[in-house]
Amino acid sequence: MSRFVLFGLIFLLSGCYYDVGSKLYPAPPCTTLTAYTYKTEVAPILNTYCNNCHSGKFASAGIVLDNYTDVKAYVDNGKLLGTIEWTGGVSPMPKGGSKLSTCNIGKVKAWIEAGAQNN
Ligand code: HEC
Repeated sequence: MSRFVLFGLIFLLSGCYYDVGSKLYPAPPCTTLTAYTYKTEVAPILNTYCNNCHSGKFASAGIVLDNYTDVKAYVDNGKLLGTIEWTGGVSPMPKGGSKLSTCNIGKVKAWIEAGAQNN
């Protein structure tokens, strides 16, 4: 019986946790990491969700996001965050796709807020 209650609680808690995920920001619910690096967090997210369009010779709009130097330029002009947060003023990305998860946006944002280092 108590086991059921425990299960119920865990279910409820995890449910709530995800529901209010955006409010818990900047600690995204999908990881226990507290520091996010370009190599282990940000680059894989960009490679997964962006770089089928934004890499190589024929990168969409000439925007290349597969290396630190180019990514940093879009951090500095505010467009990287604007495009993934869908805040307006820039095109929402990934183009034609669904918004990145709160967790992934949180990771990118936390990395930017920590100085967007080449780490
Ligand atoms: C299916 C292809 C595709 C994907 C995937 C994609 N983009 Fe784009 N992106 C484009 C195209 C095309 C443009 C230029 C036209 C436009 O702005 O809509 C663009 C423009 C941009 C711009 C400039 C926007 C502006 O308003 O100046 C940025 C920054 C950008 N993308 C970042 C990203 C990021 C970050 C991701 C991943 C989260 C991503 N893109 C995923 C195709 C894509």
